[in-house]
Amino acid sequence: MKKILTLSLVMFLGAPGLAQSSGGGVHLEEANVDLTDQASLQRGAEYFFDYCIGCHSLQYERYTTIAKGLGLSEEQVTEKFIHTRTEKGDPSAVGSLIEIAMRPEDAEQWFAQPAPDLTLTARQRGADWIYSMLQGFYLDEGTTFGVNNRVFPDMGMPHVLWELQGWQENVGEEGHVELELKKEGSMSPEEFDDVVRDITAFLVYMGEPIQLERERIGVWALGFLVIFTFLAYLLKKEYWRDVH
Ligand code: HEC
Repeated sequence: MKKILTLSLVMFLGAPGLAQSSGGGVHLEEANVDLTDQASLQRGAEYFFDYCIGCHSLQYERYTTIAKGLGLSEEQVTEKFIHTRTEKGDPSAVGSLIEIAMRPEDAEQWFAQPAPDLTLTARQRGADWIYSMLQGFYLDEGTTFGVNNRVFPDMGMPHVLWELQGWQENVGEEGHVELELKKEGSMSPEEFDDVVRDITAFLVYMGEPIQLERERIGVWALGFLVIFTFLAYLLKKEYWRDVH
């Protein structure tokens, strides 16, 4: 019994630690995503399909999940986001899984490290990690892509959003990374923050689509409890009326 208690305590206390430990002690910026903001989720999805789907799949979810959470019709999702084709050349069905546009064989050949599926990344790494990582690329001539990452050192992913963000350089000293924007991109730093927040929000939603529904169910459940408590109170009064 004692063992079980200790084990549950370790799991209970350890779980948040696990989520954080992937940050490796690096300072993370707060993503502050708002999953009830459908416009933000829609923009996030658009950026994801413009900049990320070439390498990363979301293959544990279907396109219908996007339609549901982002308030889009299945036709809109098919038109905007479905990039894979059936053998006949038609867009894949809206009920199919979100697979990568690149063939896996090519990916293996082109990149030393195949790009991982991102369906569950927000749950494993946390929103703040993704948000900070996407902000954390900087020029570093010593690496394969000429870039490094503050949050994920020696990452095998190029800085795909460089046109928007521009280029940062490391001005920190003695192994301490401190970034400064040296060459501006097409967006201001504030606009770029919003882009990264939208992409992060989209990945957080895809990692756990039930979250949105759970909140809605929660409101109903609380409403029910309030009404039930009131009825129970009336009933109690009724029972005790003759006793006093
Ligand atoms: C050119 C291919 C390519 C593109 C495009 C790309 N990535 Fe990546 N990404 C990679 C590779 C390769 C890795 C693995 C890096 C490693 O482990 O060193 C990776 C890793 C990641 C990780 C970390 C996953 C983990 O848990 O280790 C995240 C998050 C991520 N990418 C997000 C994105 C987002 C968001 C976009 C679009 C804005 C994007 N990537 C575009 C190639 C790409």
